[in-house]
Amino acid sequence: MSNNIIAHDYIVSREKRNQKNNHNSFVIWFTGLSGSGKSTIANKVEEALFEIGIKTYTLDGDNIRMGINKGLGFSEDDRHENLRRIAEVGKLFVDAGVVTVAAFVSPLQKDRELVKSIIGANNFVEVFVDTSLEECEKRDVKGLYKKARAGEIKNFTGIDAPYEAPTQPNVLIETEKESVAAAVKKVVTFVKHKLEL
Ligand code: PPS
Repeated sequence: MSNNIIAHDYIVSREKRNQKNNHNSFVIWFTGLSGSGKSTIANKVEEALFEIGIKTYTLDGDNIRMGINKGLGFSEDDRHENLRRIAEVGKLFVDAGVVTVAAFVSPLQKDRELVKSIIGANNFVEVFVDTSLEECEKRDVKGLYKKARAGEIKNFTGIDAPYEAPTQPNVLIETEKESVAAAVKKVVTFVKHKLEL
């Protein structure tokens, strides 16, 4: 299928874009259970970076599962394809010079490894939003755990689908022990050195 497709050298490269923006580009990837707080923290991380003049964008369920990945569900294969496409989009954003914040459950180690390999290990920061299932279920912000327990939603992460916790995340956030503000500060502090050209 990809026969006869020959890569072109572009005049405006990622390096030139990064120089113009005066910062590096990479993906900050948040993983955690539904309701763990990853979107809340991710949003505030983007805001904090945006406020100091960094070019940013957030990829999350709202703009991905309703758009480019419309039609994909939550089987293992669909999640794999969901995350693979998001990684390809993330790679394009990195090339475009943007610090890209991504917040996805991304429950399996092998899929997160694939994401990292597509984006490139040097362009990838993994943030594990570690909130216990008990706490997520207690919060149940969207009422989905209740439905999953009632059998109305199948393959729900943490209930009848697995979540494999990252073993070596770059940043570990324990939302039951630290505030949102502290979590945001922790991520921003970690990524600051990566912003430097
Ligand atoms: S994945 O596993 O990375 O492909 O999932 P993701 O694209 O992040 O989508 C997770 C959000 O979809 C809602 N939802 C479910 N989550 C997990 N399992 C099942 N079966 C499911 N069905 C719907 C859920 O609200 C997740 O949103 P967040 O923001 O994580 O709570």
